[in-house]
Amino acid sequence: MQVRFLTPNDSDEYWRFRLEMLEGEPNAFSSSAEEHHSLDRNELHRRIGSVDAEQFIVGAFEGTRLFGAAGFHRDKGLKTRHKGRIWGVYVSPEKRGRGLARKILETLLRRASTISGLEQILLSVAATQTPALRLYQSLGFEPWGCEPRGLRNGDQYIDEHYMILRLK
Ligand SMILES: CC(C)(COP(=O)(O)OP(=O)(O)OC[C@H]1O[C@@H](n2cnc3c(N)ncnc32)[C@H](O)[C@@H]1OP(=O)(O)O)[C@@H](O)C(=O)NCCC(=O)NCCS
Repeated sequence: MQVRFLTPNDSDEYWRFRLEMLEGEPNAFSSSAEEHHSLDRNELHRRIGSVDAEQFIVGAFEGTRLFGAAGFHRDKGLKTRHKGRIWGVYVSPEKRGRGLARKILETLLRRASTISGLEQILLSVAATQTPALRLYQSLGFEPWGCEPRGLRNGDQYIDEHYMILRLK
């Protein structure tokens, strides 16, 4: 398995992979599979960004096929540029429990920690996603709040935990 930064050449595969994640784990993400279908190519390229930019996606590939990914972007505002955010963390069910998400996030955090002026990284995680909560805690993220009913999926409400990692 190769862990690397995505490039625009990976956009078709990332589109497929993101649909897999939104359909497979509808309670884990605030975006929906329905919304994903209307995601246009320019927006996809913007999210893929580049390793030199302040937003990027790290993926785990076998050949050209993605089995895991996590996204990062830095806030743009003058008063919020000290913050970055992690989004879209997912590993395909058949590849879980082998350290893949940890490797992806370690790669992401190594890169993010070289961004000048970045002081803290934020993420949110649905309360149902115990493996993800444990993973983030093991990487040093600390919970700072919980939004009751932060997500609504049909008739189901899910609390959302907010976590922070302060960079040294
Ligand atoms: C969360 C997720 C990305 C973990 O991927 P993974 O590749 O299986 O994780 P790893 O094998 O790298 O495990 C890393 C750590 O995660 C935690 N973890 C992973 N699977 C776990 C499980 N079944 N139960 C409890 N903790 C678990 C552990 O802390 C583990 O560290 P350890 O192996 O040293 O104990 C994966 O389960 C997933 O895609 N879940 C659904 C989507 C999701 O919840 N995304 C997060 C949205 S915020």
